[in-house]
Amino acid sequence: MKVDILTIFPDFFSSPLDSSILKRAKDCGKVKMNVVNLRDFASDKHKSTDDTPFGGGAGMVLMVEPLYKALESVVEKKDEKIIMTSAFGKRFSQDMAKKFSTLKHLILICGHYKGVDERIKELFTMEEVSVGDYVLSGGEFASLVILDAVVRLIPGVLGNFDSAITDSFYEGILGYPQYTRPAEFMGLKVPEVLLSGNHEKIRLWRKKEALKKTFLNRPDLLDKKELSDEDKKLLQEIQKSEGLIEKDVS
Ligand code: ADE
Repeated sequence: MKVDILTIFPDFFSSPLDSSILKRAKDCGKVKMNVVNLRDFASDKHKSTDDTPFGGGAGMVLMVEPLYKALESVVEKKDEKIIMTSAFGKRFSQDMAKKFSTLKHLILICGHYKGVDERIKELFTMEEVSVGDYVLSGGEFASLVILDAVVRLIPGVLGNFDSAITDSFYEGILGYPQYTRPAEFMGLKVPEVLLSGNHEKIRLWRKKEALKKTFLNRPDLLDKKELSDEDKKLLQEIQKSEGLIEKDVS
């Protein structure tokens, strides 16, 4: 995959792109990342990329011209997808991350200030994406969130692809609790079942714990998920143990 990041703060990306999974993705050749400085496409001597909004009002607006020229320099008119980070966009999700991870070319525009001159959306097809219902001081943070979530799903980037498959959200629910050595710490023991070596019991325990965490923290996810008979049975047990439905009379 090729990723172009269009920003007025290119230095922001130096360390994150050179650490952890993003660095590994670059080093193993699975992802080529290119940071484009929007100021390089400014036409005045001050290298301006923003201006006051027509009609008045507080804040500054990212100008259409530098953005247009920067996009022209990276768009190949093949199968790229252009994402504009914005608090007003569609909410980013694991499903979006999965879709984006199959692309050949992703272009991320880091939105800024009070917004971006709306005309850029008529000149290029793009999707506005928000990483959550809060306002960030810049689209750079959002772009990194999107980039990390996408890149880790590209086969071969994570050492063991299984660790993406068992992530929270991969199956539309939260993850199960994890433990590692020692088996006992300050009197706190690891759940017996995890030491049993019984794979089927471990699978069921993990699934139940994952469903329980989802039920308690993010019940909205369960409304969206297609539940198997096993999921439904486990959820009933969870609701009973939480005292939310009556115990069996039999
Ligand atoms: N820019 C400012 N806030 C944002 C958000 N929540 N998501 C994406 N881009 C943003």
